[in-house]
Amino acid sequence: MKATAIAPANIAFIKYWGKKDKALRLPRNDSISMNLSNATTTTTVDFSQDYVKDEIYYGNQKMDDGETGRVIDHLERVRRLAKKRLFARVITKNSFPKGTGIASSASGFAALTLAAAAASGLKLSAKQLSILARLGSGSACRSMSPGFVEWKAADSSNNSYAYSLYSEKYWNLRDIIIVVSEEKKSITSSAGHENAGSSIFFQARLENLPQRINKLKEALKTKDIKTFGNLAEEEAIELHAVMMTQKPPLFYWSSKTLEIIKYVHIWRKEGLPVYFTLDAGPNVHLICEEKQEKKVLQKIKNSGYKNMIINNPAAGAKIINKHLF
Ligand code: DP6
Repeated sequence: MKATAIAPANIAFIKYWGKKDKALRLPRNDSISMNLSNATTTTTVDFSQDYVKDEIYYGNQKMDDGETGRVIDHLERVRRLAKKRLFARVITKNSFPKGTGIASSASGFAALTLAAAAASGLKLSAKQLSILARLGSGSACRSMSPGFVEWKAADSSNNSYAYSLYSEKYWNLRDIIIVVSEEKKSITSSAGHENAGSSIFFQARLENLPQRINKLKEALKTKDIKTFGNLAEEEAIELHAVMMTQKPPLFYWSSKTLEIIKYVHIWRKEGLPVYFTLDAGPNVHLICEEKQEKKVLQKIKNSGYKNMIINNPAAGAKIINKHLF
């Protein structure tokens, strides 16, 4: 009863921020994302009578009980569905540093969901897998489907799942993550979601979002990078305006975040179509089309930044044959 899955992180162009149901992880709004080819988690799950409790490892390192609660809760969900009582050994590894605001919980819970479901013998549809992943971490449901993905908010657990709008081959966008910090963030996004509603801007954001979502979907349909990029930027700034004005306020930006944002605006004025977006962290995601990649990389290097993760649109979570143990 062993299976291994690999899943991508994803970058949201329309962000999930705020929940209407914390336990069920039902979001306040729809969100839209792209899977990232070079920010992945690989996870092997083995259910066996050999284990007297769940054992969770990150690489060779056994994780402390304090860190594993959410993972064990997720294994419990799978055991309940599969009507099995066996404990599991889980080994997981990321292709990128943990806790940097690169969505490690998205790739992590997507890979865990798929591997645990397969290892326990569950036969679930894509929709059921997406719902299950969502219960582990909201953004993880978007990493289950290929390419460009939409997650619907909905009022019940059964109706809140993600699906692919376009495959990973649809549009050769790049997401170049400039890693400005590898430190673990002090406040997790799960904790941040809880206070989103305390920002005076939150309600206005919710009212305005359907319009932005429609425009972004239209720009995606027509591959209009200029409109798409501007909307993604507007959305990222708004997300952080909400974060900075919620109580207590969350400041995920570092001085380097702002420096890069300003560079992007200069590069655009010089005629280079490159845009930025941000997650719950200081790292900046630069969005451009493939044909601009070389120029954008040169600009980044000339401005003194070296630590980058270059991503293409990627497939969703999948089962692989090579186990981690
Ligand atoms: C800012 O999915 O990490 O990255 O459901 O509590 O696990 P939980 O939250 P999580 O939140 C992600 C927030 C975000 C925006 C996004 O990815 O849409």
